[in-house]
Amino acid sequence: MLTLLLVLLFFTSISATTFGEGLAGGETAIFKDFSLELPLGLFADDFTLPEDNPMTKEKVELGRALFFDVRLSIDNTLSCAGCHNPEFAFADNRPVSVGVNGQNGDRNTPSAINRFGTTEQFWDGRAATLEAQAKAPITNPAEMAMPNEEAVVKKIADIPGYRQWFKKVFGGEVSMDHIAMAIAVFERTIVSGDSKWDRYMAGDEAALTPAEKDGFEIFRGKGRCTQCHGGYNLTNEKYHNIGIGWDKSRLDVGRYAVTKKMEDIGAFKTPTLREIGRTEPYMHDGRFSTLEEVVDFYNQGGMDNPFLDPEMKRTDLSLEEMLNSFGNKEGIERIRKRQITGLNLTEEEKSSLVAFLKALNGKGWQGIRPPDSFPE
Ligand code: HEC
Ligand code: HEC
Repeated sequence: MLTLLLVLLFFTSISATTFGEGLAGGETAIFKDFSLELPLGLFADDFTLPEDNPMTKEKVELGRALFFDVRLSIDNTLSCAGCHNPEFAFADNRPVSVGVNGQNGDRNTPSAINRFGTTEQFWDGRAATLEAQAKAPITNPAEMAMPNEEAVVKKIADIPGYRQWFKKVFGGEVSMDHIAMAIAVFERTIVSGDSKWDRYMAGDEAALTPAEKDGFEIFRGKGRCTQCHGGYNLTNEKYHNIGIGWDKSRLDVGRYAVTKKMEDIGAFKTPTLREIGRTEPYMHDGRFSTLEEVVDFYNQGGMDNPFLDPEMKRTDLSLEEMLNSFGNKEGIERIRKRQITGLNLTEEEKSSLVAFLKALNGKGWQGIRPPDSFPE
């Protein structure tokens, strides 16, 4: 009898812990002298780290100080966090960013969450790594507006506390590379997971409401959203033209400026949809202030233009019907006529889709605060 009781106790405790851990948290990413608890839905294997810039505890701390330090800007008013604000899930709440002296930028500030698994940065991917990206805003005249990299290095190196800290972390001087490396390492700790959707995917059927579940089905079915917004971070990290900006007098050519390839005219990087309920306004020009407007836009088939992504304008012919239509004029005309430019969602389907998008708000980044004090 006692043995039976013990056996029972043993099994209940095992199943309770496995189940409990699976729901409460994700994996732990383990680095040299530092480990990061990942929220549910994120995986240690997805970290892509440059070999010359390992994650260490002290480097993360240095990077955090730099990320929140207004002294990286010309007039000591604006830090990275001034635009990538923890209050707005590391984005801001403006259509386009605002730099020193109240200058408007050209584009909307994307959230800095979940960059740990990515390489190319910016809406057009012009920075090849997170390290390369971190240098750009500091000397961008419309952002932090430091005159040049030498001036940045001198300003930071003139602060004895930073000089000592860089020596400790890098065994060397303050340099632009070291500044960027520390910031990038810190950024890789800004994570978002454990959303209602992650819990649903981990097996908790009740984590999504019926409307949110319907929305998820539309997201991966009739809405075709996963053609571009797939994977753990809800993005393929590729560039697509969905038609944003073609109603303006001056077109932002997006990815074309980097590749000079015709098919990249007006293409922008698919953004993550994690925290999307917290990072309005939306799109590279910040034109939509609600998710309802975003869904209406897709429901109309985006905005037509000569380079619209084929995913936005599909034919409803079967593959066989299409293959039979090739090779003659009438056939091609038939394919063109049978292109459906919208999604044909009902009002109810649209609101379910919006409810699902809001279920992508998660956890992980909320605990990140500015340091108590900055080096002097
Ligand atoms: C004036 C506001 C502003 C400041 C200050 C600023 N950023 Fe940004 N950040 C932006 C905007 C706007 C973009 C998008 C620009 C583009 O794609 O052309 C961006 C893009 C990024 C991206 C790319 C995200 C992605 O999904 O591709 C990262 C990472 C980033 N910033 C980190 C930083 C860091 C680190 C700093 C400080 C060194 C910083 N930012 C300072 C506004 C700002
Ligand atoms: C062809 C690829 C593609 C498809 C399909 C697609 N998206 Fe997007 N999505 C993008 C790109 C690219 C952007 C950024 C466009 C820009 O700003 O120019 C974007 C932006 C967004 C944004 C704004 C994100 C932000 O941070 O500003 C939301 C929300 C969104 N998409 C939701 C959806 C939903 C919901 C669907 C399905 C109905 C969908 N997308 C289908 C590629 C796609």
